[in-house]
Amino acid sequence: MMLIYDKVYIEDFGECKGVGRCGTCHVHVWHAPTGMFFHDGVEHTTLARLADVQENSHLACQIMVNKSINGLVVQVVDAA
Ligand code: FES
Repeated sequence: MMLIYDKVYIEDFGECKGVGRCGTCHVHVWHAPTGMFFHDGVEHTTLARLADVQENSHLACQIMVNKSINGLVVQVVDAA
């Protein structure tokens, strides 16, 4: 989430700053490299109240940033 937040300006993206409650960092993951890690704390609860949720939906703030995400492909879901 912070990589997207820092590099691409998207209005209202990441409002809760990574707590996993706002859902504004909803992304569709199109390619997840082997070994990368998704936190699974509050993500399901937050995704349950969002539109356009698919099997590949995740909260960008719940994706651990380390070298295992090399090759990760995500698409920010337009909440508007
Ligand atoms: S930044 Fe709020 S849920 Fe990810």
